[in-house]
Formats: sequence, structure tokens, C-alpha cells
Amino acid sequence: MQKHTCTFILIGLGIVFACAPYPKEVETNSAVKAQRFPAESFDSVIEDNVDDMIKRGRDIFRYDTFGSENFWGDKLRLHEAIAGEKQGGRGTGLSPKQALQLGLKVDQAKVPSTLLEVIKGGAVSLENPETTLELLRANAVVGVTGFFDKKDKRLRSVGIQCAFCHSTVDDSFAKGIGRRLDGWPNRDLNVGAVVELSPNLQPLADLLKTDEATVRKVLLSWGPGKYDAELNQDGKAFRPDGKSAATVLPAAFGLAGVHLHTYTGWGSVTYWNAYVANTQMVGRGTFFDPRLKNEAQFPIGAAAGFGDMRPPSDLITEKLAALHFYQLAIPAPTPPKKLFDKDAAARGKEVFNGKAHCATCHVPPLFTEPGWPLHTPEEIGIDDFQANRSPEKRYRTTPLRGLFTRMKGGFYHDGRFPTLDEVVDHYNVAMKLNLTGSEHADLIEYLKSL
Ligand code: HEC
Ligand code: HEC
Repeated sequence: MQKHTCTFILIGLGIVFACAPYPKEVETNSAVKAQRFPAESFDSVIEDNVDDMIKRGRDIFRYDTFGSENFWGDKLRLHEAIAGEKQGGRGTGLSPKQALQLGLKVDQAKVPSTLLEVIKGGAVSLENPETTLELLRANAVVGVTGFFDKKDKRLRSVGIQCAFCHSTVDDSFAKGIGRRLDGWPNRDLNVGAVVELSPNLQPLADLLKTDEATVRKVLLSWGPGKYDAELNQDGKAFRPDGKSAATVLPAAFGLAGVHLHTYTGWGSVTYWNAYVANTQMVGRGTFFDPRLKNEAQFPIGAAAGFGDMRPPSDLITEKLAALHFYQLAIPAPTPPKKLFDKDAAARGKEVFNGKAHCATCHVPPLFTEPGWPLHTPEEIGIDDFQANRSPEKRYRTTPLRGLFTRMKGGFYHDGRFPTLDEVVDHYNVAMKLNLTGSEHADLIEYLKSL
């Protein structure tokens, strides 16, 4: 018995000895030894990381204000307009009905079931601003967090989240109340009108070197589904033709594999997340982009020091990795089959890849170019106004998946083409495609199927 055990150990040792350093001629990084002995393989370390990053990223995307309550609440006093005079704020307050009319959304899963029941039964009025406060207390207003005083329970500040503009709900309970759809642009949301509720817009007026009345006018010029993420860099509120300079809220899904983001290709997803959290949501963190020090292009941003922000404490940087991860995990949604004609879409695919040359830029299956997906305004046959507001002075090829989620608000960065019909017309003329009536129609069905 004992003899057998010894032989076994000897054979075992022999194998270990023979395997590890063999073959002698091969050099490997001695650092890999660090992963050899723990029971857990590095594969499972990676799997655990995936779960953890997605969960944290989702929480950040949905619920993190990055300290922005210091601006929206403490400075602009937006919470006072929401609460209304009776609840310690100002004015009449914001009823749930008004909030829904402004395009704000309610996450059904967060509304206490008792409250849902009474809303359904009509016992709680959607006209009453106190119900809005109830919803904020339950953390059910998508993209907005209310901060309540522990003692007198009054709303003392509000902050905003990524989900404010980049999530909507599926209306499963009522219009504007349902399950979250992260990454779907909220094309109902009137960002400007929500901000304009703020009693004190002087901090924005100071930054933009103008007066409050002008700030209010600009905010109300955006309309639903739009926001201007460059206004506080260059101060350009209107295009040369007098229309608003705001852009439509883009999809924040289907972005994995895409190199540059925003309509004008400012940078990667994580670049832009840092940009937005620091310079737009006005959270507190570190941000570095020397391109914003260009005074000629970005007079406002350069003067405000947006190109190098280093506050003593940082609520943003440690969240960027998980936030990035989560965003890349959000797939583009599949359009319902009833939204398009399958046979026409199949024919349209041929047109897209062939005669119309769409696929040279919108390369399937990413529908943008692998590489450096930027184009001059001339290449796509439009004006250079918005391109010139960005460092690269170009337009980025928009990934086309999930187009059906952005039928409201129009296409191209400023929504200039209200329908796909007009988009195809534009290409037909600008690129001299000579599409026949049926090719044109088929191409539209294909776009709707993406
Ligand atoms: C007030 C509305 C608003 C908020 C809040 C907001 N965004 Fe955006 N987001 C926009 C707009 C508008 C654009 C397009 C900007 C442009 O092209 O100039 C954009 C662009 C993006 C893009 C690029 C999409 C693409 O197609 O390339 C990503 C990714 C993104 N936002 C993620 C985020 C994240 C993450 C947060 C939170 C840190 C956030 N956004 C907060 C309005 C918002
Ligand atoms: C030279 C490259 C190029 C070609 C070719 C091209 N596109 Fe585009 N496409 C772009 C760019 C760049 C944008 C973004 C324009 C903007 O936002 O102002 C865009 C935007 C779009 C949009 C709007 C997406 C949105 O959400 O706003 C659609 C739809 C579209 N293209 C379809 C097509 C079709 C169909 C064709 C072929 C007929 C085509 N494109 C050919 C570069 C191209």
C-alpha cells in the first residue's frame, strides 16, 4: 500500500517537473506565475468582472448624479419650482401630468404598488404636485433624483443622470409610465423647458456672458427631444438660418465597435461620458481636453477652464470604467416585424449595398466605418455649422441600427429630415443616385428593418 502511494507521488512530481519549464528554449513572462496557484482561473476572474461592471455601470447610468445637485438644485433652485410654494418651494409646483407633458418618464418598477393602485383608481390626482414629490421620493422619475431633508421631509435639491436624456419607458402602465428602456433616446423630453423651470438661471447667464431673459429664450427654442451639448463651449445658440443650434438626442445603444461618438466625433464613449458628466451635467470631477482651450473656437469653454478641470474631490473618474462597460453592453433594439415590409426590405438591402452606395460609409453590421468614421460636410452634402463646432470639424457616420426608435424628432444631427423619405431624397440628389421610385421605397423599408 505504502509502496504504491510513493510511486504515485513520484510519477506525479515527475509530470509537474516535466511540464512547467518545458520546453527550455521558450521564454515566457515570469509574471504569469501569479495566476497559477489560486484555485480560481483567470477566466472566472474575467467573468466576475463582467457581472460586476455591468451592474455597477447600470446603477451609475440610472441613478448617479455625479454631484450635479450642487448645480441644478443648489444654484438653479430647480427643486423649488418642482415642489411649489405649499411644499416650501416657489410657484404652483410641477404636477405629474405637467412632468409627463414635458416628456419626463416614470419607472413603473420603482413606484410603490400602493401608489400605482391609487393612481390607477384615480384616487391620487396626477394634477397634484405632491404626487410628483412622492414619485421622486420613490426614485421613480427617470433621470432625476430628489434630495429630501431628513427632518422636515422637504425637497431640498435635485440632480440629474445620464438616463434623463438617454432612457425612456415602454408606456406599459400609462403614457410616460412603464418599464425602463435604457439607451433609447427620450425624444419626448423637452430638456430646455425643464431647465427653464428653474427660478434662478443667473449662473447659466454668467457662464454664457448674457442675461437671464436670453438664456430662457434659448432654452425654450430647443423643443422636445433636443439638447445642445456645445452651447457652453462656443456660445452659439442659433444656426445662421436662425433655427436652434440644438441636436436631437442620439441613441446610446448599439455603440460597441464604433470608434467615435457624437454627431461630430468628439471622441470615444468614455471620452464623451467624462465630457458630459463634468461640463454638461455639471457634476464634480476631473476632466482634461486641451482642445477646449482653443479660444477662437470655444470662447466660453476656454474662459471657464473646461479644458482642465481638477476640483479637490472627484465623484466621476472612478465611475467611468463601469459606465463605459454598461453602455457598450446595451444592444440596439430589434424593430417589430409589423413596422416594415420584409420582402421590400430584402430588396432595399440590395440597393443599400449596391446602387445607392450607402454601405461604403454605413458598413454592415456596424453601419458606420471600422476605422475613422468622419466625413467633411461636403461629402454628405450638408452645411458645416455643427461640424465646425467640434474639434475635427466633421460629421460622424451614424450607426443605423434601431432607427425605428428615433422616428420622432427627425434624422441627421439636428433632425433636419423629418422622415426617412426625406433622408433618401437628400442622398438621391446630393449623390446623384438616380434611384427609381421602387428602389427609393425599398430602401426605406430596409432602413426601418435595421
Ligand atoms: C441633457 C441631456 C443629456 C444628458 C443628461 C446626457 N446626454 Fe449623452 N448626449 C446628449 C446629446 C444631445 C448628445 C449628442 C451630442 C452631440 O453630438 O453634440 C449625446 C451623446 C451621447 C453619446 C454619443 C452617442 C453616439 O451616437 O455616438 C453617448 C454615448 C452619451 N451621450 C452618453 C451619455 C452618458 C453616459 C451620460 C451620463 C454621464 C449622458 N450621455 C448624459 C444628451 C445628453
Ligand atoms: C459619405 C458617407 C455616407 C454615405 C455614402 C451615406 N451616409 Fe448616411 N450618414 C453619413 C453621416 C456622416 C451621417 C450623419 C449626418 C448628420 O448627423 O448630420 C449619416 C446619417 C444617416 C442617417 C441618419 C441617422 C440618424 O439617426 O440621424 C441615415 C438614415 C442615413 N445616413 C442613411 C443613409 C443611406 C440610406 C445612404 C445611402 C443612400 C447613406 N446614408 C449614405 C454618412 C454617409
